[in-house]
Amino acid sequence: MELSRVTLLLFLTSPLGLAVAENVDSNIVCDPPFRDIGRHCLVIDTSIIGTWDSVRQFCRNLGGELVNMHDANILHDIFSFIKENPILDSESYWIGAYDILDEGKWVWSYNNTHVRMNTPLWGVQSGHQEPTGGVYENCAMLNKDYHYYVFDDNCDQPNAVICASTKKMAEAQPEEEEKDNTPRRECPSPFIMIGNVCLLVDALKENPWSEQQMICSALGGHMARIEDANDLGDLYDYLIANDVRMDLWMGGSDLRMEDDWVWENNAKVPMGTPFWGQETRGMQEPAGGLYENCLSLSSVDFFYFHDDECQRMKGVVCQYDI
Ligand SMILES: *[C@@H]1O[C@H](CO)[C@@H](O)[C@H](O)[C@H]1NC(C)=O
Repeated sequence: MELSRVTLLLFLTSPLGLAVAENVDSNIVCDPPFRDIGRHCLVIDTSIIGTWDSVRQFCRNLGGELVNMHDANILHDIFSFIKENPILDSESYWIGAYDILDEGKWVWSYNNTHVRMNTPLWGVQSGHQEPTGGVYENCAMLNKDYHYYVFDDNCDQPNAVICASTKKMAEAQPEEEEKDNTPRRECPSPFIMIGNVCLLVDALKENPWSEQQMICSALGGHMARIEDANDLGDLYDYLIANDVRMDLWMGGSDLRMEDDWVWENNAKVPMGTPFWGQETRGMQEPAGGLYENCLSLSSVDFFYFHDDECQRMKGVVCQYDI
């Protein structure tokens, strides 16, 4: 197979392939054929279709590895890039997670670390959250039919590939440590730290969206603004651990302008995967058009974002800025 030749062709014909980094802060330099996608050096390739093992070897030959998602936000970067490049919006892609060694224990292929389960990475099919294939499906892919959420699949199935530069993965570690030095104000009671965010989940008093907005503000906070996928995962884990079974309002809405989803401070709500869920016909949320203008975490859809009618009675997640 002449794998590398096809890859190079793809990159020479892509408009962004030769772009030079103008702003040092927002771009990184990647060794071709890897390119900067959301500050990660990736190859997203639909011309290479193969089994999980064969495309993993393809990545290794490029000096990479099937993409790992220790940071769940990389899925948002990949999803956005695929949607901006319709030519890529046609295949499912193998990624570097598998449970071949120990059934049910999903690990990342780069350093065998634990894969976060459930929301925000894993997709939902017929009311069940992946992985659902048991011993028959031991490799992970981004499923084109389910908005590129993570699914388990039979490792011998043919899928396209997303590789990440191993060099960049090794460099990624020091950055994390710097972040933790920033001094923080305390998270005041009744708020509590859930992951990195100071939140209050009220699943006792159900109210319409605007009333919940006033309640959060009376507590010195605002309705929750979750724009980091890892924070959504931490919130999901908290809700499950505390047996919360109701929908919860968050601070997003498109009340001011249809389809323009913003938080209360007018910052954009991240759209698509891995934040928004799926409605019953299979469309990605938000799907309620003019009738559903407020953002809720949907309990039946594993607390992914859904739009809903603002008058509906729901609990709330409030946030206190620290
Ligand atoms: C595994 O690799 C990821 C990505 O480089 C890194 O963030 C993480 O700290 C590594 N974990 C261990 C235990 O080496």
